[in-house]
Order: sequence, then C-alpha cells, then structure tokens
Amino acid sequence: MVVPDPALPEHVAIYEVGPRDGLQNESAVVPVEVKAEFLDRLAAAGLRVLEATSFVHPRWVPQLADAADLLQRLVRVDGVDYPVLVPNERGLDRALAAGVQHVAIFASATETFAKRNLNRTLDEQFAMFAPVVDRALAQGLRVRGYVSMCFGDPWEGPVAPEQVAAVGRRLVEMGCHQLSLGDTIGTGTPGHVDAVLDACLAGGVPVQQIAVHFHDTYGQALANTLAALRRGVTTVDASAGGLGGCPYAESATGNLATEDLVWMLDGLGIRHGVDLDALVATSTWMAGQLGRPSPSNVVRALGRT
Ligand code: HMG
Ligand code: MG
Repeated sequence: MVVPDPALPEHVAIYEVGPRDGLQNESAVVPVEVKAEFLDRLAAAGLRVLEATSFVHPRWVPQLADAADLLQRLVRVDGVDYPVLVPNERGLDRALAAGVQHVAIFASATETFAKRNLNRTLDEQFAMFAPVVDRALAQGLRVRGYVSMCFGDPWEGPVAPEQVAAVGRRLVEMGCHQLSLGDTIGTGTPGHVDAVLDACLAGGVPVQQIAVHFHDTYGQALANTLAALRRGVTTVDASAGGLGGCPYAESATGNLATEDLVWMLDGLGIRHGVDLDALVATSTWMAGQLGRPSPSNVVRALGRT
C-alpha cells in the first residue's frame, strides 16, 4: 500500500554506486565484460546516475584497474550520467582521456583515514584536490565531493559534526556542485544524521547540495536515509544488491541496497524512476557472477538468489 508523507520530498535522485563502491571491495576481480553489462543493465532499469569506476592508483584498488577499458566498452545511454572517482591530477588526466564529464573527489573528515585512503594529511588532501577541481571546472566537467568518516572512524572513534561540516564546506567552496556525506563504516543512527546535517547547514552548505551515502554495516542505512529525507535531502547514494565497502576502512561493508531504498520510496509514494523488477533481476544476476547471495533484503525477498 502506498501511504505518502507530506513531510518528505516528492522525488528522490538515486546516485548508484554499485559498480564503483560495490566492485572496488570484491576480493575477486570482476571481468570487464561483466562490469560493462552491469552498467548497461542498471541504465536499462532506469537508474540515471551510475558511478562507473575510479581512476585511482591501480595498485591501491586493483579491482578497478580496468577503468579506461570499461569506459571504452560502455554503451552510453542518453540522459545517463557516468561519474567516476578521481583523487588527483593523474586520475583526472586518465578520466579526461576516457571522455568523462563528471568526476568525484573524495575527502576524509579525519587525519587517520586521509592518510590511509589517500596517503595525505587532512590539509594535504585539499592541496591534492585543488588543481583537480580547477582543471575539471575549466573543462566544463561537474565535480562531486565526498566526505568520508562523517559518523565515526574505526581508528579515531567519534567525529565531531563540526569537523565534517568544515571539510564539506571547503569542498563546496572549491566548486563541488554536490557534497556526499559518507557513513563509511555504517555506525550512524538517525539522531546523528540530524546532528551532522545541522552542522553542515549551519556551516553554510545548502541542503539542495547535500547527498547522503550510508553503508549498512549496522543495519541503520534505511533509517538514516529516512531521517535525511525528512530534512529535505533529495539525493541518496545506494548500491544495487547492497554490494560494497571500502578496502581502506576497517569494518566497512556494503552500501544501502538500491532495492531496499526503492521499496521504501515506493511505499511512501516518492518518485525515483527505477523499475524494481529489472533492478532485482540485475542484482540476482550479479550475485550469480560473484558466487554469493545479495545481502539486500528486497533482493532476497523478490529474487531467486
Ligand atoms: P601515492 O602513493 O601518495 O601517490 O598515492 P603519488 O602521488 O605519490 O604517486 C606515486 C605514483 O603513482 C606515481 O607514479 C604516480 O604517477 C602514480 P611514478 O611517478 O612513481 O611512476 N599515480 C597514479 N597512477 C594512476 N592513477 C592515479 C595515480 N595517482 C598517482 N590516479 C593516491 C596517492 C591518491 C594515488 C592513492 O592513495 C590512491 O589511489 N588512493 C585511492 C584509495 C581508494 O580508491 N579508496 C576507495 C575509494 S574512497 C571510498 O570508498 C569512500 C567513499 O565511498 C565514501 C564513503 O563511503 O565514505 C567515496
Ligand atoms: Mg562508500
């Protein structure tokens, strides 16, 4: 039954991260043909933003070393945006050579994760990003900014919402059109989402520019998403089949499953443009490719894995 809630947005833009955040964390390297088919199927299921891959150092994330090859094989669908992660100018050069039009830089809210994920201090990460953003904007690209460890860090423990807001604000001031707040290890709860959003809004980041990126390690991702929607956030990151994690963050598991998100949005009468059956079929197929069942409740309920 559909029961709308007037306090929630009428439309949510789903930012699909399965091909990047999901596959970067697979122990096996997924063949490039399978990745290309995954992207084609996600586009056919109605997803309009597909984070396709990363141009990071191939030694750091060997699972995505085939980024250029993948983008060459991609049959780009009209109206579908295929952003990619780039950490530095070398990554941007590779992304530009592949014809990318939308890139995402990824900052850390904490010193320890900046070091572990980017081999930079908190301040040095901005020095690395600045020329990437300047050059990307000058070439007419759009730049998204992630902040990781917004809700806690496995090495440093609690992270002050003001620290998250300060890092996020710097990314927006650099020229990022969107700020994605990452619960990298999935420990956040709905009140904490309010606190982080309060700090970001007080720090001058408009809610229209904020996206949320919840990993589901502690089963809180959907509740946290609902909390963010109540605050007016309308872009939600999710991963088909609940694939995902971060190879450089202890205890990071899959993202919020796109199917679980779609099920909730359908029940609330919120438009999203995704064909749930086609998406479940895609995640069921991908689970077969990976040789293990999807962790998504909705895929398990509706699919045949
Ligand atoms: P570094 O070792 O400090 O690199 O790594 P460097 O700048 O010193 O360069 C060393 C060599 O690497 C040079 O080659 C560079 O050209 C080369 P040499 O001159 O020695 O022959 N190099 C590259 N080659 C290819 N592509 C590149 C590249 N960059 C340098 N882009 C670096 C620094 C940033 C490269 C490294 O730390 C890195 O690749 N990190 C990426 C880690 C990663 O991908 N983590 C997962 C994504 S983040 C995430 O999942 C969180 C998120 O989902 C949100 C959330 O959940 O919170 C987004
Ligand atoms: Mg992530």
